[in-house]
Amino acid sequence: MTKAARTIRKIAGDTPIQAALILGSGLSALGDELRDRIAIPYSELKGFPGGGVSGHGRDFLIGTLGGKRVAVLTGREHYYEHGNAAAMRPALETLVELGVQTLLLTNSAGSLDPENGPGNLMLIADHINYAGMNPLIGEPTDRRFVNMVDAYDPKLRRKSLEIAHAFGIALKEGVYLWYSGPSFETVAEIRMAIRLGANAVGMSTAPEVILARMLGLRVWACSSITNMGAGLSDERISHEHTKTMAVRGAEKLKRLIPALVEAL
Ligand code: HPA
Repeated sequence: MTKAARTIRKIAGDTPIQAALILGSGLSALGDELRDRIAIPYSELKGFPGGGVSGHGRDFLIGTLGGKRVAVLTGREHYYEHGNAAAMRPALETLVELGVQTLLLTNSAGSLDPENGPGNLMLIADHINYAGMNPLIGEPTDRRFVNMVDAYDPKLRRKSLEIAHAFGIALKEGVYLWYSGPSFETVAEIRMAIRLGANAVGMSTAPEVILARMLGLRVWACSSITNMGAGLSDERISHEHTKTMAVRGAEKLKRLIPALVEAL
């Protein structure tokens, strides 16, 4: 068992945790939805996200959501912070040791679809790993040859579309393209991403999904659209803008995610 898993069990007890939620830029307020919550700073958990990015939280939370025992990572570590695509591996391995079977990921993303603009959500149906880096490089076992068909669980996708429909929340499925960042895309890169069949672009999530699938986790992921991709609108893209706009998506995710967890 990882040292972090032992620390978490010592503080929060050893009742298995059923699902975990990773929160993207500007989405850390979703952690407020947990009842009876226990917060453990990442700094106390070996291998958990380090330095951090503004707009991201730095706490590991455990509590009740949708009637289930759930862990929330209020912030993540990105490839662009240091060039290590496997930075989230220790945290994900810890979740598995704590009993987690389902991983729900959120992020902020730029939309490539004029009909799905800022403030909306995009349910991730699949991804394109355009960063060209893979978190399993160096993994010495045959586990590295992960099958990525249906990596974004079709049943969970269907369920979340039903829930969104019932709540009157617009939810469109799409393909997420992972650019490493941290610079935003050029206008030409956005045109290319559209031609490649992507519906949104972002700087996270794909490496965690690859790791999670190797670890046998069931995955669901949703983008909060904070802006149109570079050149697709007159608004100026910035990290400040991302953090501000993410709040609108967060309000929708606050309703959607507990209902999805309840249905697990
Ligand atoms: N590009 C990449 N990542 C992002 C964007 C974007 O336009 N918006 C929010 N995260």
